Amino acid sequence: MEKTTHFGFTEIPESEKAGRVQGIFGSVASKYDVMNDAMSLGIHRIWKDAMMDWLAPRPGQRLLDVAGGTGDISFKFLSRAGSGHATVLDLTEPMLVEGRKRAEAASMAESLDWVVGDAMALPFDDNTFDVYTISFGIRNVTRPQDALNEAYRVLKPGGRLMVLEFSQIPTPALQWAYDRYSFNLIPPMGQVIAGDRDSYQYLVESIRRFPDQETFLGMVRTAGFDNAKYRNLSMGIACLHSGWKL
Ligand SMILES: C[S@@+](CC[C@H](N)C(=O)[O-])C[C@H]1O[C@@H](n2cnc3c(N)ncnc32)[C@H](O)[C@@H]1O
Repeated sequence: MEKTTHFGFTEIPESEKAGRVQGIFGSVASKYDVMNDAMSLGIHRIWKDAMMDWLAPRPGQRLLDVAGGTGDISFKFLSRAGSGHATVLDLTEPMLVEGRKRAEAASMAESLDWVVGDAMALPFDDNTFDVYTISFGIRNVTRPQDALNEAYRVLKPGGRLMVLEFSQIPTPALQWAYDRYSFNLIPPMGQVIAGDRDSYQYLVESIRRFPDQETFLGMVRTAGFDNAKYRNLSMGIACLHSGWKL
């Protein structure tokens, strides 16, 4: 019998997950950036800046930004590095189309490539990139451990992994308050702003299903990364995990 996995709070056959994730992000692509600001009250920008602070991009580095969507992380990385190259890979072409428009508007197109692909089977040679990022993407991947293994494979020796993802708040009372906010407000906001309640219901459910900080740290180590560590953001609403291919 085929293995199953979770899609938010629903259990589905593994083979169906990527198609359903593509359906969600295909339908929200044109509103994705506006919704991100609205739902997080702009805080996702602070988290992404914290990611850049820890990553400390250097001139000339080659970045692979997996599940890169509309390119937020790559734009920030290239601005901080001053020079370099970013490849944005995503399963959902309409997200990349939005990103490419942004790159052209910002005159950054020549520093970027846009590739449709799956985090679990990257179309790149071993030892290719200096830095691998995945921001708010890995919880959507059918088998996150496979994605981490692939990250390790395509990084050069000395390369750096950085994952930004929603996580779990260690204080139960705060987790309760956050759940009330996310389950009661985010799907209706999705309905009003993007005309799409179901996609945002999936979003809040997928956040609750994602492994906690320590469990995910173990997965980063299992993939082979050394010096693996994490930093909570906003009390654990989100979290950064870092690791090195040494
Ligand atoms: C919430 S968006 C994050 C976009 C961007 N990284 C950001 O931080 O704003 C999640 C993205 O993950 C992509 N995605 C989901 N599963 C994927 C997979 N298996 N491989 C590559 N991309 C995937 C989706 O298509 C979507 O664009």
